[in-house]
Amino acid sequence: MRGAAVVLLAAAAASVAAADVGGPALDYALNCQGCHRADGAGTPGSVPALAGSVGKFLRVPGGREYLIRVPGVAQAPLDDAATAAVLNWILARFGNDDLPADFSPYTPAEIGRLRRDPLTDVERVRRDLLDAIARSK
Ligand code: HEC
Repeated sequence: MRGAAVVLLAAAAASVAAADVGGPALDYALNCQGCHRADGAGTPGSVPALAGSVGKFLRVPGGREYLIRVPGVAQAPLDDAATAAVLNWILARFGNDDLPADFSPYTPAEIGRLRRDPLTDVERVRRDLLDAIARSK
């Protein structure tokens, strides 16, 4: 009997701990941070910074779709709801100052629709969007 209570308590403690660190922050740490870094600074020379940059894509046509269709997002090993949550988390954490006033959070349905169509010419699409962002200043 006592053994069972201890097991139950341990299980409850584990689920509380998981709730504290789970969700998008944990998904980012496990699936994205290796390349994009904890502080969103990226890996100079190979992975772009998200911090101070990612929110700007939402200010130009096609940018909203790009943030889903980019391979790191479209092919993330997360379901549509978790992918929407991690993208919204990234935007709040690293792009909050750049979000357009009419920004509405990504929904799982939107992720599901667009991730079926990942980009094949990422570099060109990204360059065109960055040009549009620069021109819109
Ligand atoms: C293997 C390294 C790697 C991993 C892991 C990775 N990314 Fe990326 N990410 C990149 C690179 C490189 C780019 C630039 C576009 C490209 O070449 O794919 C990018 C671009 C992006 C962009 C668009 C920003 C921009 O400036 O182009 C977003 C948003 C993004 N990643 C989110 C994520 C999320 C969310 C995850 C985790 C689910 C993730 N990435 C995992 C390497 C990675």
